[in-house]
Amino acid sequence: QVNNQVKYLEQLCENLNHHKEITNCRSNQTIMNLVRVYISNELNRMSGIDIGTIFKSIQWNSNLEDSDLVLPLPKLGRHIGKPSMLAQEWAKSFPTGDYIQRIEHNGPFLKFFLSPHFLFNSVIPEIGLKAESYGFRKLQSDKKVLIEFSSPNIAKPFHAGHLRSTIIGGFLSNLYQAMGWEVTRMNYLGDWGKQFGLLAVGYYKYGKEDLLASDPIHHLFDVYVRINKDKEQEIKDGISVTDSIDCKAKLFFKKIESGDEEALKLWKTFRSLSIDKYICTYARLNIHFDVYSGESQVPRDTIRKAMELIKDNNLLEQSDGATLIDLTKFNKKLGKTVIKKSDGTTLYLTRDVGAAIDRYEKYHFDKMIYVIATQQDLYVSQLFETIKQLGFNWANNLEHVNFGMVKGMSTRKGTVVFLDNILEEAKDKALTVMKGDQVKYSRIEDPEKVADLIGVSAVMIQDMKSKRINNYEFDWNRMLSFEGDTGPYLQYTHSRLQSIASNHAHLNIDFPNFDLLVENEAILLIRLLAQYPDVLVNAMRTQEPCTVVTYLFKVAHQVSSCYATLWVTGQPQETAVARLMLYNAAMHVIGNGMRLLGLTPVHRM
Ligand code: ARG
Repeated sequence: QVNNQVKYLEQLCENLNHHKEITNCRSNQTIMNLVRVYISNELNRMSGIDIGTIFKSIQWNSNLEDSDLVLPLPKLGRHIGKPSMLAQEWAKSFPTGDYIQRIEHNGPFLKFFLSPHFLFNSVIPEIGLKAESYGFRKLQSDKKVLIEFSSPNIAKPFHAGHLRSTIIGGFLSNLYQAMGWEVTRMNYLGDWGKQFGLLAVGYYKYGKEDLLASDPIHHLFDVYVRINKDKEQEIKDGISVTDSIDCKAKLFFKKIESGDEEALKLWKTFRSLSIDKYICTYARLNIHFDVYSGESQVPRDTIRKAMELIKDNNLLEQSDGATLIDLTKFNKKLGKTVIKKSDGTTLYLTRDVGAAIDRYEKYHFDKMIYVIATQQDLYVSQLFETIKQLGFNWANNLEHVNFGMVKGMSTRKGTVVFLDNILEEAKDKALTVMKGDQVKYSRIEDPEKVADLIGVSAVMIQDMKSKRINNYEFDWNRMLSFEGDTGPYLQYTHSRLQSIASNHAHLNIDFPNFDLLVENEAILLIRLLAQYPDVLVNAMRTQEPCTVVTYLFKVAHQVSSCYATLWVTGQPQETAVARLMLYNAAMHVIGNGMRLLGLTPVHRM
């Protein structure tokens, strides 16, 4: 019967094909959208207002106590009459049909509460059908986005800024992909500059081939720190300029730059071994870059071209031999910034401009996102403004997704951190927590693997649970707690749902009777699950992982409140089946949300 109701809505959708707003989602309707179509159609009949306009104006409500959907009448335009009067009138005469349980009005707002009967019978099958892709849509077709994130520097620590960029960038990539974009994930490594001359000198003095092969990231950092100390010491001791480390380093980098075979070979080894290692570490976070680009990869010609364009556009100013770019003409706050030093070397910004031009030529992106810490806000604005002033029309499609700081990030090894150390420590700590319950622990098949996944979840959820721009304190104990809104808690919720599913796998779920789900807890849960597709659309707008995280915790809490009353074990068959299917739907939604965030849901913990 409900199948017929959904069919009716789909037919309605089909008939309204000529409405752009509705056609846009025609091929990826969600249950909520079908209800929006119904409401729009009925209100159009009552008022003559354009269906598309009504459809666009109906919003989802993150506060379910307030309603499932809400229509702010002023959004429909001024000509419609007095919104509060109309709201009152429409609330009275609107035909609720099979889809809506009741309507309320409050000032200019019309509030719709959906029929639980309809939701159970449409949303549960919908989730079952779409499974891992429930919530995914094709909001855009043939759109390309390039997302640059993580971007650590070779031979330097992987600091908190890199960690956040990695986590947020990974999420955004998944999200855009889920919404139908073609995504290129790019890592822009700090792999070029004088410091590589110094590193090479250090490597000849302290380097070990076996250590470089087995642990390139730590080894190179170690070598770099030691040679840097030697260099400082020399400066103190007043060693003559010609045979100083500094001088040798400069010479070596000149060799790399001019393409000297041996010098280039060493640098390439540093780079490629580091990348091999990064690939493995990122894989623990379910992140796979399509391109390992980097400062070294920007074609020289493109940098030269960027420099010429900057000159041709009269953006330059000379000062003490250095070349500045003056952006104050366009925006006072952007100031003036050096782009070429007195010795003729171009600086970071010029290279970044070249990199952007190169990427556009290669990928023809519709949007390019830079995931970079808020400390670099000014720099990124300067970069964007410069590109804009060069007359590239795609300059308007550049976006900076920024984020605040992490305080107190340290591991056993100290405050200089590397990604793999953080993940290793998270895993060890998770393992200790798990061992606290020996009975449960003994039942886990591959505890090391599970501990790794839980540890990673802890680090990631801690990072994603509040707004990006907020700073937060890195807190091992809190993030690993199984209580409160943490990664382990989310994993626990998922694994418990998983065990309900496997404990009742024998039940025949072919003809469920959802009318047996009458409890308020169940109703609230299905209303939440219906919202998931809209939550993702909202996340596209906010570009905030916390939009998804907050929602997942709401679902997790609702699932917990269901456990108390909605038993599956020991219930009459029909009741057990209805409840089991509701729990399975919740499991899918939580699992999907976790995967979108970059986590791997565990089955048992
Ligand atoms: N490697 C830089 C750092 O560690 C981040 C790169 C940011 N991206 C860019 N296109 N400038 O600070």
